[in-house]
Amino acid sequence: MTPLRDNHGRIATDLRVSLTDRCNLRCNYCMPAEGLDWLPDDKVLTDDEVVRLIGIATERLGVQEVRFTGGEPLVRRGLVEIVRRTAQLAHRPEMSLTTNALGLKHTAAALAEAGLDRVNVSLDTIRPETFAEITRRDRLPDVIAGLMAARAAGLGPVKVNAVLLRGVNDDQAGELLRWTIDQGFHLRFIEQMPLDAQHAWHREQMITADEIFTRLEKEFVLTPSGEPRGSAPAELFTVDGGPATVGVIASVTRPFCGDCDRVRLTADGQVRNCLFARTESDLRTPMRAGASDAELAERWVRAMATKLPGHGIDDPAFLQPARPMSAIGG
Ligand code: 5AD
Ligand code: SF4
Repeated sequence: MTPLRDNHGRIATDLRVSLTDRCNLRCNYCMPAEGLDWLPDDKVLTDDEVVRLIGIATERLGVQEVRFTGGEPLVRRGLVEIVRRTAQLAHRPEMSLTTNALGLKHTAAALAEAGLDRVNVSLDTIRPETFAEITRRDRLPDVIAGLMAARAAGLGPVKVNAVLLRGVNDDQAGELLRWTIDQGFHLRFIEQMPLDAQHAWHREQMITADEIFTRLEKEFVLTPSGEPRGSAPAELFTVDGGPATVGVIASVTRPFCGDCDRVRLTADGQVRNCLFARTESDLRTPMRAGASDAELAERWVRAMATKLPGHGIDDPAFLQPARPMSAIGG
């Protein structure tokens, strides 16, 4: 076993696998209304290829956790089978799904049965009109039904990820927290990152972790949970004495790159050692040209070595990666 170690001593054990760059929502901090130029089908890894690479990662490279992402992973037809086959690998990883929950109502039970452990659902508001404003689709009831189905299927703890946008939903943090606590979901606020396809992100516009905290403290008593953060990006606080908690992921203002244990595989078979990496390493081409598992593993190890120490968002020379979040995987 060769760990995915970089030149700064970090070891990646958490693999994010993007299964498609397509999505059935159009969150305005992610994509333009008309969508994007999707990857052509022949460039997208087949189910067999995805499972083979996850097998290499878990059996040869020490990966212990796999998160399926997108775009929206539920729009990938083979998802349940990919989960089932991943669960049957010799070194079965922990498996979770980052999803917008559209259609999850119909697949949560099958996903749980196939071996999925948990889901993270993206939900920025519980007001239908704000939901439609952010996602450009009037689908809030489907998301809520998906969340309920995930809970009923035992895909917990169900986490909810929320992004706050100035002037849109930044006055709704408390209401969202109250609702998630009532429902038994674990809410985490994520600072908006410069990963939108439109390149419209501005540092001054972003709602910072400090602002989120100040807003929540008007309505709740927040106490640092005291749990060591480790490689988990969320700072956890207990709410009104607990047991409920809320997380804040300050990717921009308090970066956690030094503890990062993540590596990413895009839907077209490129290894990315960081969300913000400006280079990728192609596994699809050598795989289709007949490379062995050992050769692919070696390429993967090499791809990780050069992982940069940090994302440098605050550096004036910072350049956004060429691909948007939906094509990288969250
Ligand atoms: N910054 C922060 N989070 C983002 N997401 C999508 N785009 C961004 C961004 N630019 C979130 C989604 C979802 C997860 C995959 O990432 O809301 O929760
Ligand atoms: Fe789809 Fe997620 Fe992007 Fe929203 S943030 S458009 S749900 S990929």
